[in-house]
Amino acid sequence: MSRLKLAVIVGSVRKGRFGPVVARWIADLAAQHGAFEVDVIDLADAELPLELPATPPALDPNPPRPDGMTDLTRRLGAADAFVVVTPDYNRSFPAVLKAVIDWHVTEWDAKTVGFVGYSGTSGGLLAIESLRQVFNELNAHTVRGYVSFPRYYLMFDEHGDLREPEEPTGAAKAMLDQLHWWARALTDARSTLSRS
Ligand SMILES: Cc1cc2nc3c(=O)[nH]c(=O)nc-3n(C[C@H](O)[C@H](O)[C@H](O)COP(=O)(O)O)c2cc1C
Repeated sequence: MSRLKLAVIVGSVRKGRFGPVVARWIADLAAQHGAFEVDVIDLADAELPLELPATPPALDPNPPRPDGMTDLTRRLGAADAFVVVTPDYNRSFPAVLKAVIDWHVTEWDAKTVGFVGYSGTSGGLLAIESLRQVFNELNAHTVRGYVSFPRYYLMFDEHGDLREPEEPTGAAKAMLDQLHWWARALTDARSTLSRS
């Protein structure tokens, strides 16, 4: 059976960010899982203006997009499943994540999403729970499993490796299994999808 395409989205773009370390960790585990072809999408590489298209997505799901978004849109469209790597910013997710979500519609439709969160005390959980609501509106299924790194700076060493990998690795494996189950089911089901 061909492997499903899993896009790992790096959800922070600020200078000095920690997001790529967490994204690399989950991308490596997803590759080891064996069921996925993994694509790491760094939102810092894309042009994602906050000014959205004039026509709402329900009326035009494929609006004209900036040239600097073309590669991003293609890779989101190619994905069967997503892992969003997100910190908590003021008890929610970074604005760049809202921008990439709002610029796209069919790219999320009837696909499955998992999360890896990290931050100070809240470990990305507030971002994750907010994102579940947003993806619900886009007809994307968010899986129950997730990974959370509260006080991530104590959990990763200076090389970006986890000091005690067992528990988070187990949580990641459970999430990846759930993503695989849903992605396989939804990939079959998408061929019969009628959009309304
Ligand atoms: C604007 C901003 C708001 C933040 N708000 C929270 C927060 O509400 N809860 C929390 O635990 N950490 C918060 N933090 C700490 C971040 O989660 C932490 O700095 C993390 O490294 C951010 O991810 P990044 O390095 O990939 O940008 C905030 C950081 C920033 C920059």
